[in-house]
Amino acid sequence: MELRELTEEDAPALQKIYRGASLTYIERQGLSAAEAITMVSDALTGPHGRWVFGIAVDDDLVGKVRLRCRAESHAAISYVLREDSWGHGYATQAVAGMLRYAFTATGMTSIGARHHPDNTASGRVLQKNGFTYRGTFGGWLLYDLRKTNGWHPRSRTPLPTTTAPGRPPPGSPTPPVARRR
Ligand SMILES: CC(C)(COP(=O)(O)OP(=O)(O)OC[C@H]1O[C@@H](n2cnc3c(N)ncnc32)[C@H](O)[C@@H]1OP(=O)(O)O)[C@@H](O)C(=O)NCCC(=O)NCCS
Repeated sequence: MELRELTEEDAPALQKIYRGASLTYIERQGLSAAEAITMVSDALTGPHGRWVFGIAVDDDLVGKVRLRCRAESHAAISYVLREDSWGHGYATQAVAGMLRYAFTATGMTSIGARHHPDNTASGRVLQKNGFTYRGTFGGWLLYDLRKTNGWHPRSRTPLPTTTAPGRPPPGSPTPPVARRR
């Protein structure tokens, strides 16, 4: 399992990821071909403070993990896997890899996450990566993880070595983003 940059050729694979049961707990519909292409181009040229990687197993793109800066040094993580790839530990490994990337290459020092109360598998992914449950808000279970409290750099997930066009190089400072009210 590895995290890698998305490419334009990944659009059909993204359509297969965003389908069926994978949509149950995420606020998104299935993707048209055009929307899948837009998703790739957004991932490659998106705004400062957003990092999107594909989750690949033996060259098969089975999922996507995303980090979005929400406030200075704080980002939210989200992830989705194609239904036929569930239950192999890929989401747990992908989140571990993205946390390593977040805390070593982006300047983020805390990561938040949330999941639907019925989405037990997502909760397990977060717990196994050291996240702490903070409470429920707006019907979502909220978690966080700090680089200096709860995170252990134990992931060996291969990470992207290239920087997508439009994205700042790893380690460059991320400008503050207004906290959502
Ligand atoms: C949630 C999701 C990412 C999990 O991916 P995955 O690769 O199957 O997860 P992993 O294999 O790494 O681990 C899942 C853990 O949840 C457990 N689990 C899986 N399905 C479960 C279920 N229905 N009920 C309870 N636990 C479940 C697994 O046993 C495992 O825990 P364990 O190691 O303690 O046994 C995947 O189901 C998915 O993409 N769902 C749709 C999108 C989504 O919900 N994203 C998260 C939005 S918050």
